[in-house]
Amino acid sequence: MDAVLAIEDLAKTYRMGGQVIKALDGVSLSVAAGRLVAIMGASGSGKSTLLHLSGGLDTCDRGTVRVEGLDITHMWDRSRTLFRRRRVGIIFQAYNLLPTLTAAENIAVPLLVDGVPTADIRRRVGDIMRLVHIDHRSEHRPQAMSGGEQQRVAIARALLNDPALILADEPTGNLDSVNAAEIWQLLRHLAHELKKTVLMVTHEPAAASYADEIHVLKDGKLIGSIEGVELGDAALVATRYAKLAG
Ligand SMILES: Nc1ncnc2c1ncn2[C@@H]1O[C@H](COP(=O)(O)OP(=O)(O)O)[C@@H](O)[C@H]1O
Ligand SMILES: [Mg+2]
Repeated sequence: MDAVLAIEDLAKTYRMGGQVIKALDGVSLSVAAGRLVAIMGASGSGKSTLLHLSGGLDTCDRGTVRVEGLDITHMWDRSRTLFRRRRVGIIFQAYNLLPTLTAAENIAVPLLVDGVPTADIRRRVGDIMRLVHIDHRSEHRPQAMSGGEQQRVAIARALLNDPALILADEPTGNLDSVNAAEIWQLLRHLAHELKKTVLMVTHEPAAASYADEIHVLKDGKLIGSIEGVELGDAALVATRYAKLAG
């Protein structure tokens, strides 16, 4: 099957004062529809940079990123922004919800910006809230919801345009293990049942243990993969990871 996300020889350097930091140094990766792929790496290994470039949030020095066959590294800024809004959904460790809006209103924001009719917005927001099992919280504001519920709202918002690609940057970094496991199951569901392409970056072995594939990033390079992990076997992932990256 064709890859929904195809990354080739991607490189990104930051310059800080006199220092040159190779955040990404020749990363190639291909992710097919219906797959949940985890990139595991320590803090500073380049995970967020990889995720941002995969979603067209930043520009690279070298290499290409194709989403659904379209090269987003050589797109004009405006086209890239439009493409990202339509085809890519991004979730972060911080849920980034607006505190004064209800869950339903937070999810509706992108549609309001696009001038979608109110009746359509209500229907689409209702559908997406049921899909991620957060419909019972539609009138709640963020502070009245648990972290897990807030992340579901953020996921609903990311899914609203029916994107092909979902990118998740440490999505459960602020959650306890029970809430975190529910989010990992939800990401699996999005991949396996809804055929989304899901790329999650994380430093947590438990998070990675829910993925179909685990690749290890170190100093901006993919240095290997962890295979044969049973669902939720965080201890095995931690051991293999230490062998590869330690
Ligand atoms: N905007 C930036 N300016 C300078 N250096 C940066 C910037 N963003 C990231 N870096 C550096 O690039 C490297 C990779 O960062 P990042 O992709 O955020 O890693 P991770 O998400 O794995 O912690 C780190 O050394 C980090 O300090
Ligand atoms: Mg990061």
